[in-house]
Amino acid sequence: MPHINLTPIIRSAIYICITSVGFYVIFLGVLTIPLFQNQIIYLNRVTLTWFQDVNVPEQWGFLRNQVTPFNLRTEDGETLHAWHILPLQLYGQHEEELLEEPSGLAPDIKNRLGFKLLRDDPSSLLVLYFHGAAGTLGSGWRPPSYRAMSAGEPGRIHTIAIDYRGFGESTGVPSEEGLLKDAVALAKFAMEEAGIPPSRIVLFAQSLGTAVSISLTNHMANLPEPVLFSGMVLVAPFANVEMLTATYRVAGIIPILDPIAKFPRLLAWLNTLILSKWPSKDALADFVRRCEGMDGNALKYHITVIHAEDDYDIPWSHSEQVFWHAVNASSPNGISYDELERDKEASKVMRGAGGWVVDQRTMKGVIREEIMKYGLHDRIMSYPVVSSAILRAFRDLGR
Ligand SMILES: *[C@@H]1O[C@H](CO)[C@@H](O)[C@H](O)[C@H]1NC(C)=O
Repeated sequence: MPHINLTPIIRSAIYICITSVGFYVIFLGVLTIPLFQNQIIYLNRVTLTWFQDVNVPEQWGFLRNQVTPFNLRTEDGETLHAWHILPLQLYGQHEEELLEEPSGLAPDIKNRLGFKLLRDDPSSLLVLYFHGAAGTLGSGWRPPSYRAMSAGEPGRIHTIAIDYRGFGESTGVPSEEGLLKDAVALAKFAMEEAGIPPSRIVLFAQSLGTAVSISLTNHMANLPEPVLFSGMVLVAPFANVEMLTATYRVAGIIPILDPIAKFPRLLAWLNTLILSKWPSKDALADFVRRCEGMDGNALKYHITVIHAEDDYDIPWSHSEQVFWHAVNASSPNGISYDELERDKEASKVMRGAGGWVVDQRTMKGVIREEIMKYGLHDRIMSYPVVSSAILRAFRDLGR
């Protein structure tokens, strides 16, 4: 019988194990350094639009001058790169003039016809768009999703999207406070420069953007003169960073903290080292409570949470949490998760392969949850479920 010496094989195997664990521990150590941490949470240097010019939106299939790239200033001096996207029907009505305008980054957007069409039409509607982590204004499913924003009313729904600080052509580095400042800068631009009242503004957000838009909504509702937007559509939200770390998969594949998640204490300790908290479920609950406490019986808030069951980046259980916290905050005595689940079973509108929807209303507001069977993490942003949610958010409040 030939003799096989197992010792070197076992030795190599042990070395490989030790080395991998070593690398993983180093990786976790690096994670505790804020600069690297931000790279993982925001992924802002992974632009995904390498070798493309985000000042030439035609590269992503837009008609000439349908999109106007321009710059916005934040209160702390950063410059944000933004796109103003015209809806198709409106574009068609002004095509000849638009074609004659200069292309590329607008030195002053106020001189552009597209901006004038937004500002001067008292019936125009505006979506403020907050994208997710990584990439730029032009990456992935974002361009198709800009087209979905206006699909319900292609004559009057404009969209303005920004790259947050540190993303794309925008200056600075991302942080939780910084991204809120960026969102405030966009909202101010919309209300003060374009003159659109918040009743004609809906916030759209996906993934990381949902945290930014919830933060903005809460901030604006807390001002001495509260500002309430017409509504918000949240696609693939997460409850908060702490809950996200246990489940997040980079690119839907690599569960970076999965090995740690099996040790709740270790994960909790690691979470104390993560600077960005993005407490979305609690911030949304605060906002709903505040609105419920306001005078008058007119509707004050309109929240739609949309998630796909096949989202491998952020599981849809996060939407269940977000929805529950919002609904809990809307009822005076609160409601337990299980109790709400029972209510939902009774009131769900089933749509077969199209998923299901639950609509919870009080005298003060609307909270909807739409769970799709298909849509993954990003693709869903371009789907009709989003177009109709945007339309509903403009219409339901009828302000
Ligand atoms: C639900 O709402 C009640 C009443 O406002 C509150 O006391 C409770 O803390 C809330 N539950 C959660 C999990 O936030």
